[in-house]
Amino acid sequence: MGLRLNLNYEVMTSLYLSVKSDFMFLVMTGPPGAGKGTQAKRLAETLGLSHVSTGEIFRRNISQKTELGLRVKKLLENGILVPDDLTIELVQDQIGQFVDSGGAIFDGFPRNLEQAQALDDILLLHGKGVDLAPLISLSDSTVIERLTGRRTDRDTGNTYHLIYDPPPHNANLEQRPDDKRDTVLRRIDDYRKRTVPMLAHYDERNLLCEIDGENTIDQVTTALLKVIRGRVFA
Ligand code: AP5
Repeated sequence: MGLRLNLNYEVMTSLYLSVKSDFMFLVMTGPPGAGKGTQAKRLAETLGLSHVSTGEIFRRNISQKTELGLRVKKLLENGILVPDDLTIELVQDQIGQFVDSGGAIFDGFPRNLEQAQALDDILLLHGKGVDLAPLISLSDSTVIERLTGRRTDRDTGNTYHLIYDPPPHNANLEQRPDDKRDTVLRRIDDYRKRTVPMLAHYDERNLLCEIDGENTIDQVTTALLKVIRGRVFA
């Protein structure tokens, strides 16, 4: 893949050490429905960072019927990952604005080791690196409950849960096509096969921190802010 710089581990490490700055780049990871989007939005507001959700970017392109949207529509509907080259190019094209605006929270990206290495390389080209990778963990049964109860307001794009985060009465609700039970099961399987092996990449560099996603939305936000304060601003 053209994006890798083929730098060895020692060179990468010394470059990371030399680029420590006030910018912050967080990689929010976890199974589907763990609350990555919910939390990333809150953290982005609190910390003044950009929220970069590859899933949201794909969905926006689908609803606007762009060329990219037409290419990825069937994949998203069936809970299948978009090819790496397309996803990495998307992030690479937009990274400049996030660097200029002081940092970003990546939500749903990277999704596998290839993407994680590509993100390292992309950030390194801008003299930056990943500061922390919060992993929101959740049992399979809760994932299914969360996703089958999730609804999005067509007009505002806001996400709700029919029980845990009820929408306002006038909301124009829709269900994501990939939130049907069978598709959710496929996404969980994909998470285990493709994303879980990536976690070691961050764990080895002491960037991974696990947060219990079974708690309430507010409790998860508090736990995330605590760990970010402790690790990034220490
Ligand atoms: P994407 O949109 O990234 O989906 P995902 O990772 O499966 O995550 P979700 O958006 O489903 O869940 P979430 O963790 O954000 O949970 P949320 O906060 O909404 O990707 C969709 C598709 O795009 C992929 O399948 C793939 O096709 C493609 N794609 C995207 N990125 C890609 C990449 N990098 N490479 C290749 N393909 C890519 O919360 C879920 C529900 O639970 C909500 O209803 C919420 O209100 C509720 N909730 C949240 N937290 C709590 C809580 N603590 N207690 C109770 N309820 C809660």
